Amino acid sequence: MKCFTLHSYKGGTGKTTLVANIAAILAQEGKNVAVLDLDFQAPSLHTLIGISTKTKYINDFLDGSVSHQDILNDMPSSFSLDGRMAVAFSNPDVDAIRTQLAQDRKWHMNALSQLLSLKQMLADDGFDYTILDSAPGVHYSSVNTIVLSDFAVLIAKIDNFDFDGTLNILKGLYTPLDKGTYLLFNKVVPPMFKEPRYSQMKETISEMFSDLTTVLGYVPCYCDIPMGMGSEIHALTSSEIAFVTGLRAVVKKIDEMPIPKPKAKGAKK
Ligand SMILES: Nc1ncnc2c1ncn2[C@@H]1O[C@H](COP(=O)(O)OP(=O)(O)O)[C@@H](O)[C@H]1O
Ligand SMILES: [Mg+2]
Repeated sequence: MKCFTLHSYKGGTGKTTLVANIAAILAQEGKNVAVLDLDFQAPSLHTLIGISTKTKYINDFLDGSVSHQDILNDMPSSFSLDGRMAVAFSNPDVDAIRTQLAQDRKWHMNALSQLLSLKQMLADDGFDYTILDSAPGVHYSSVNTIVLSDFAVLIAKIDNFDFDGTLNILKGLYTPLDKGTYLLFNKVVPPMFKEPRYSQMKETISEMFSDLTTVLGYVPCYCDIPMGMGSEIHALTSSEIAFVTGLRAVVKKIDEMPIPKPKAKGAKK
């Protein structure tokens, strides 16, 4: 089983949207995929997927009150996926979020060991992939998510805030943790795909990042995504739009390429 997280320096880069769509594409291709919402600070996957009042959360698993099967929610059969896609949510209740935010380092270390056993249980259940939706930034919970993963896919927009922030975590977090990464740009506006701009953009990005990571691709900004009001997985509903076809090419690379190794430790600061 491969386990990876989608992470970023700042919020709003599209991690949750991409996690759901990447998982759906893999499941359409016959892979068994578990998705864990480990963004305890701002749980969101339940909005995209829908939640039942009987749902048990990853928080309950960490409390030891339920088993790992109890927290897995299978996607409805109406989506006709060739593989299994099961999602475990994090508790969106404000009190639960506040409790999570107040947990100390020791609690997070204990949570890490429980999450490592959860990962083993998912591998034993026959899942081919576990995909982790992470909180942005460098909080304990994000670091746990990175430690759990075989590699991370960093999600960034094409702007200097995200360029600087991504360099910051690559040098300050991923290099010391010795964790391999890919970099995926999301919400790329259509004019950026026109020449000569496209080549210029790729050259600038290569100069900045090639010592530290491998660029996976550029996912277009697609205005109809917000039209789904955050409650639609476009890979399941609109398979021909550029957002989905672009993402399918990215997923093919993730599926076929070996787990990325950490790049040069001595990369220039
Ligand atoms: N490629 C895209 N094109 C247009 N809107 C997008 C795209 N990817 C994500 N979004 C939108 O951006 C917003 C933030 O996405 P979200 O997945 O919640 O980000 P994060 O999990 O990184 O905070 C949402 O409104 C989502 O619909
Ligand atoms: Mg999110």
